[in-house]
Amino acid sequence: MGKLEVVLTESEIREKIDELAARINRDYAGKELLVVGILRGAFIFMADLVRRLEVPVVVDFVAVSSYGDATVSSGIVRIIKDMDESVAGRHVLLVEDIIDSGLTLKYLYDYLKARGPASLRVCTLLDKPDRRQVDFQSDYNGFTIPDYFVVGFGLDYKQFYRNLPAVCVLHPGKEDEEACLQGPGRRNL
Ligand code: PRP
Repeated sequence: MGKLEVVLTESEIREKIDELAARINRDYAGKELLVVGILRGAFIFMADLVRRLEVPVVVDFVAVSSYGDATVSSGIVRIIKDMDESVAGRHVLLVEDIIDSGLTLKYLYDYLKARGPASLRVCTLLDKPDRRQVDFQSDYNGFTIPDYFVVGFGLDYKQFYRNLPAVCVLHPGKEDEEACLQGPGRRNL
C-alpha cells in the first residue's frame, strides 16, 4: 500500500468538531435535531459530532450507490439504504465526510427537501471546492482542502484506511498508482 502523510491531526480535527458543535448547539437551541449520516464515510465524523451536541438528537443513516471506483461518474446517485425516520416537520442535519463533485449532497438535499422538513442543513468535515461539478455549499464546513486524495477519519481507499485517526494524503505505492491511473476516480490522485 502507499505512503501516508498526515495533513489534519487528531487534535486539529477535535478542535474543529468542537467549533462546529458549538455553532450547531447555538443555532438549534430549544429544538430537536434529526442527524442523518451518509454511509459509509460519515460514520466517524458523525459519531464525534453528535457526542458534542447538547440539543435532543435522533440519528439515522442513508447509503447511496458509489459511482466512482473505476468508472466515469454517470452523475446519477441512487439510494441503496433509505432513512428509517420520517423527515416531515423535523429539523434535519445531513452529515457528510467530504464534498467533492457535490453530486451526492445535491441529490440527497433535494430528495430530503421534497419530504417537507421544518429545516434542512448540511454539515461536512472536508470540502474540496476545486472538484465541484454542481453548485453546492454546506452550512457547517470543517476544512476546505486542495484536490488531494485523502484517507482516514472515515475516508477510504478501496475500503481501507477509514480507521486512521487523522486525515492523511495517500501517496500511492506502485501497484496502487497503476490501479488509480487506469480510470478517473471520484477523488483523483
Ligand atoms: C464519498 C464521500 C461522499 C462522496 C462525495 O463517498 O463519502 O459521500 O464520495 O463525493 P461527491 O461530492 O463527488 O458526490 P463514496 O461514494 O466514496 O462512498 P463512502 O462514503 O462509502 O466512502
